[in-house]
Amino acid sequence: MNYQHNTVQAIEWSGRQLRLLDQRALPSQKIFLEYGNAPAVAEAIQDMVVRGAPAIGITAAYAVVLSAIEHGARLNWRQSVLRDIERLAASRPTAVNLFWALNRMRQCLEDADVAPIDSLLAEARSIHVEDIEANHHMGELGAALIESGDVITHCNAGALATGGYGTALGVIRSAYARGKIGTVYADETRPWLQGARLTAWELLQDDIPVTLLCEGAAASLMSSGRVSWVIVGSDRIAANGDVANKIGTYSLAINARHHGVRFMVAAPTSTIDMQAESAADIPIEQRNPLEILNLGGQRIAAEGATAWNPAFDVTPAELVDAIVTEKGVIMNPNTRNISALMSGD
Ligand code: MRU
Repeated sequence: MNYQHNTVQAIEWSGRQLRLLDQRALPSQKIFLEYGNAPAVAEAIQDMVVRGAPAIGITAAYAVVLSAIEHGARLNWRQSVLRDIERLAASRPTAVNLFWALNRMRQCLEDADVAPIDSLLAEARSIHVEDIEANHHMGELGAALIESGDVITHCNAGALATGGYGTALGVIRSAYARGKIGTVYADETRPWLQGARLTAWELLQDDIPVTLLCEGAAASLMSSGRVSWVIVGSDRIAANGDVANKIGTYSLAINARHHGVRFMVAAPTSTIDMQAESAADIPIEQRNPLEILNLGGQRIAAEGATAWNPAFDVTPAELVDAIVTEKGVIMNPNTRNISALMSGD
């Protein structure tokens, strides 16, 4: 099925250039930036022009094509492309989809005498299309778990964060279309406000009403008894089911368990890192403290205050009710059921 134009597209390949929707400017401006080389794309990933685990992986894959186009005619093309892959890998540490996609691209270089531009492009396109298909499938599987009620989501795990349709927002889109969701609540998601700026914008494009809340209000909302599920995406899931996602996800999971609200993680299997045994093996990105001390370029914190700014946290597996992947649903995740899903048993 061709799903490609179902939702907003944040990543576009235009012949010999990569176009990225500048997510820093949303929702007030819809600007596409053009990229012609891999180091510039690595910088765009670092600077949050494009963000969200699957979207970062897809973007990096296209950047490897740019690298092969730029260096392909040179004698030492392979060295240059591998150097660009290293640069891309250093852009953000937590989302494993980045390394997964770069590994797929690196494999295309093996045994190639000349820069394999066509097969690199075909691989990047496959990574992109497979992600959209996985999201639609997860949407169906996740929606089937929901009976009725309101839901809370955190950050943006939507079309903007993926190839299209979204992981958590894919589930929400599918469940909303079936009349299973009353209100979609979105955490504003400090400090980058992915909830307020991106999730709200993206859902409203699809005429799905959205109600914002400060993440500190989530416990109060859950105590009302209206919320049936918290639904989030992930940047990396360890082999034991521990889930790294946007900072604040862990608090939501604790709150959810306390209030009898169920907690769903929707993520493609490219987000599951079987090399990471548990949370301890997941690197957590620390970002610039100014992201917290300032707001919209203006200092808001008292002069002299410092800030701790981890971009992600890890929710222990025991707080997760369901992990929804394109290969199936894992209830109460643990090492055994994750390994069974990943090996196809
Ligand atoms: O810092 P970001 O905006 O890249 O963080 C994104 C998230 O935490 C998303 O929830 C996660 O990548 C899943 S996206 C489908």
